[in-house]
Amino acid sequence: MFKNFFKRKDISSELNKKSLLERNLSLVSLILLGIGAIVGTGIFVSPGIIAGVYAGPATILSFLVAAFVCMLVALCYAEFSSTIPIGGSAYVYAYSTFGQFIAWLVGWSIIVYSMISTAVVSVAWSSYFKNLFNLNFRTRFDVIATILILLLMGFLLRGMKDSAKLNNTMVFVKFFTIMFFVGIGIFFIKKENFFPFIPKVIIDNSGIKHYGLLGIISGAASSFYSYLGFEVVATTSEEVKNPKRDVSLGIIISLAAAAILYILMSTVLVGIVNYKDLADPSIQSYSAAYAMKIAGKAWASNIISVGAIAGMTTVALLNLYAGTRLVLAISRDGLLPRKLSKLSEKNKVPVRATIFVAIVTVIAANTLSLDSAIELVSSCALFVFAIVSIGVIFLRYDKQFKDLEKSFKVPMFPVIPILAFASCILLMAQFKKFTWIIFLICELIGILYYLFIGQRTSQLDQKNNN
Ligand code: ALA
Repeated sequence: MFKNFFKRKDISSELNKKSLLERNLSLVSLILLGIGAIVGTGIFVSPGIIAGVYAGPATILSFLVAAFVCMLVALCYAEFSSTIPIGGSAYVYAYSTFGQFIAWLVGWSIIVYSMISTAVVSVAWSSYFKNLFNLNFRTRFDVIATILILLLMGFLLRGMKDSAKLNNTMVFVKFFTIMFFVGIGIFFIKKENFFPFIPKVIIDNSGIKHYGLLGIISGAASSFYSYLGFEVVATTSEEVKNPKRDVSLGIIISLAAAAILYILMSTVLVGIVNYKDLADPSIQSYSAAYAMKIAGKAWASNIISVGAIAGMTTVALLNLYAGTRLVLAISRDGLLPRKLSKLSEKNKVPVRATIFVAIVTVIAANTLSLDSAIELVSSCALFVFAIVSIGVIFLRYDKQFKDLEKSFKVPMFPVIPILAFASCILLMAQFKKFTWIIFLICELIGILYYLFIGQRTSQLDQKNNN
């Protein structure tokens, strides 16, 4: 039963295989794809929540701390992707360093978090859309979120070229919206709103502590969600023209660009709206639009909603994409039914994997509660990031990878991988008990699937292939 637990992927034979997917993506598309996957719901919601609940004006520092942690992890991803430029990202990295069992857990966690993240974003998209067009209907079934997911599925089925075009247009729309907010807002900043920069700790009626240095760290854990998506770039390796160089550059540049946008956005927000006002939950959920109202530019809030919708469209599209490519990689190895890995004749798209991921996402969008879903997404992602970070150390010392050419190496080795690992664990430690429970239940389901189904089908698969 445990025969394959530590069985590792033979990387040299994988690298020699010709990928069947089409190589369409350039470095610029990768950077746009990275920004598309990162900047979405978070930028329009998180700065308000973090300023009001956790850190006050020091929200800017929370975003910096989270950006620093993500950058550490991104460097580790970059070394892996430049050594093993094969689709499947962290799943393949874990398969080649730690063996099948850990790889499955990593792959499973990525599938769960990309599907749930798409579900969360689609539900938020649907409420922004209803708000913008004053649609007041409410049904148990979220019709708009469902239609959005199915439309995005349609785009993915047409191939990566069309999906990248949609993404690029939307990235420009959201970039201009953020610049519009910053450009107007900067004239309405009141210096006094930045002081005290790190407000003293207070304890509210429900006994919850806010502000202080701890507030900055909790704020960083909470803002982590806004940075998720940089790793999506690593799933594209098989569709990139020059994967060895471009995937690592794409990850690092898109993350840095997103960090700059977040820091600009939070600086302007806490400069216009006093952090004490942001403690009101009804303001937090539309804080950017509220800031424009305070600035006397109520008309601008509609423009912000359009930007938010554009931003969320790309995050939903690219998370859906990442989910389908992971299902493709895992089903090729037989850990999920092999039928899911069949590509279409015409565009070389994994049709079944795409439809499967879209259907599960529709179900998730219509059943899960938003806040627990967001926390589940972050915990699964941090777990994956912790494994990737520590995996780089094995990558350097393992004989299997000695002769492989690396176009990128993590600087200050092994300090950065160790720091990245420790930071992921520190951020995970900030989660509520409830989040830990849902995270562990989710992993347990994955383990049971592996023990009773996955590892058996993978063995059968190997026999049939031999
Ligand atoms: N980083 C993505 C967002 O903020 C998940 O929507």
